[in-house]
Amino acid sequence: MLNEYEIKKQICEIGKRIYDKGMVAANDGNISVKLNDNEFLCTPTGVSKGFMTPEYICKVDKDGKVIQANPGFKPSSEIKMHMRVYKERPDVNAVVHAHPMYATGFAIAGIPLTQPIMPEAVIALGCVPIAEYGTPSTEEIPNAVAKYLQSFDAVLLENHGALTFSDNLLAAYHKMESVEFYAKLLYISKQLGGPKELNDAQVKRLYEIRRQFGMTGKHPADLCPNANNGKPSCHGCGGNCSGHCSSGDADLVSEITRRVLEQLGK
Ligand code: 13P
Repeated sequence: MLNEYEIKKQICEIGKRIYDKGMVAANDGNISVKLNDNEFLCTPTGVSKGFMTPEYICKVDKDGKVIQANPGFKPSSEIKMHMRVYKERPDVNAVVHAHPMYATGFAIAGIPLTQPIMPEAVIALGCVPIAEYGTPSTEEIPNAVAKYLQSFDAVLLENHGALTFSDNLLAAYHKMESVEFYAKLLYISKQLGGPKELNDAQVKRLYEIRRQFGMTGKHPADLCPNANNGKPSCHGCGGNCSGHCSSGDADLVSEITRRVLEQLGK
């Protein structure tokens, strides 16, 4: 097991990766790691996450209050968002927030990542919903994210970026890479005339493989009622299901009616 100093070094390494890969600009993004139920390490606010050294890293309690921070460093302004994930997901030990170009483009366009276009994305992520817009640093973002936490390990933040989490920091970072790769491929295939989606039977087989692998974390394949309702997956829900997809035609009709009325401004 890594000691605290080694975890701080790992946070710096992941910060450098998200910066070098263009997943964040300037001082954007933040990273945290859970040490135990009341101690968490996090990146400081207002510094480039690409140039951190271990002494930059702050320690906070479960409420986000400072336990230790070197002079000149304060915890991330988004610490409430991180703490909400840990509170609601005891299986999570690391959280990464970034603004990767393509995923954030989808978050700005209001398009969730729901089209099943490649096996790896279906197995690793299922679909990626968009949590409703919230003002950074307020409770609005944690509140918006909360409803997706029991069904997903990756969420887009409307007009903002992406949030990923897992049982260890490397896995949380890899989820961010997977979200961005998926978003980029979806974008490119849309430019090439539109993706040829995997069919229902193919998606179902991939979900089965995920179950056989015994992969950790939350995934809509395991939780979405559509997956157990004669429908192969939750890819038809538009990413809005948060694990509570409409499971009957009546629900579907009322949802379509709601959206049409919304479009008409009623
Ligand atoms: P912090 O530097 O305070 O973590 O904020 C960066 C950011 O990306 C906010 O969304």
